[in-house]
Amino acid sequence: MDGAYRLGVGQAHGKIILAGEHAVVHHQPAIALPFSSVKLTVRIKAFTADDPRSPSQVTIHSDYDQGDFFAHSDHLAGIQTIWSAFFDEYQLVRPSAIIQIKSTIPPERGMGSSAALATAFTRALFDCYQINLDSETLSDYTHRSEQIAHGNPSGIDEQIVRSRDAIYFKKDEMPAYFQLSLPAYLVVADTGEIGNTHRAVSDVHLLLKEKTTIVKGWITAIGEIVEEMMRAIKQKDITLIGKLMNKNYYYLQQLTVNNEKLDFLVQNALSAGALGAKLTGGGRGGCMIALAESERIAKKVAKHLKTAGAKETWLLSLE
Ligand code: MEV
Repeated sequence: MDGAYRLGVGQAHGKIILAGEHAVVHHQPAIALPFSSVKLTVRIKAFTADDPRSPSQVTIHSDYDQGDFFAHSDHLAGIQTIWSAFFDEYQLVRPSAIIQIKSTIPPERGMGSSAALATAFTRALFDCYQINLDSETLSDYTHRSEQIAHGNPSGIDEQIVRSRDAIYFKKDEMPAYFQLSLPAYLVVADTGEIGNTHRAVSDVHLLLKEKTTIVKGWITAIGEIVEEMMRAIKQKDITLIGKLMNKNYYYLQQLTVNNEKLDFLVQNALSAGALGAKLTGGGRGGCMIALAESERIAKKVAKHLKTAGAKETWLLSLE
């Protein structure tokens, strides 16, 4: 407690799915990496009723929203649910408050911004009231929020935005953590186009309903790629990992979660010398990744991607 208000802070980072997105919703495995180059921080100031500085309501300050927290319903619906659930479950008086969100995670680009927001927000709330937050409770709160943002999420985003290590993930199972160490670089590029994970996930469900046998085959094939990639990671076989990324992208295209700009950037990355490239996350916009065998090639790939229209690029050493 600081004077007449409580202050709580929570943070989470971005994420990259190396392989297995979308198929993971259908119980296939996926591999994800923490992406700490981008982060999201939530600060909550909760005022006691008699504090003269207390705002009359819950207000939000972020790059996207200013003003009444409950008036901005769409993309804040997940954390509004967390807010209500928290005060109901812990039987605390709802305070007036100022919520501040600062983020370098580009929103709706498959980098885990909604899961990072739910995680950082939950952490900030528990920190504010100095209530111990165990891993299970954090998962419970963030999953509720992600269900609103994504419909039927696998849960991979919620796990990776708070993990220091890479994860091998299967829906409804605990993630298996491992240290990724490869003599390679990952180039991450933002198409600058907003993706829509919710829509892409439900379109894959529809496709599965319409053409069950063939789509089941594609989803299973992605699962097999992930298993083979885990073996290639253990053997540090970056050439094979690159090929598997390309194969994974082919099946993501079959699932119709690619788009023109992603295809264009993937092609550009490959012609600039990447070992493999694919979209990452929900697709239909958002981000793509490319694997390069050295920093020199990674820089060359990033430069090509910028010229080809990428809004922003990041280099990530996997060593
Ligand atoms: C989104 O980052 C990953 C998807 O597989 C959805 C999910 O797993 O919930 C597309």
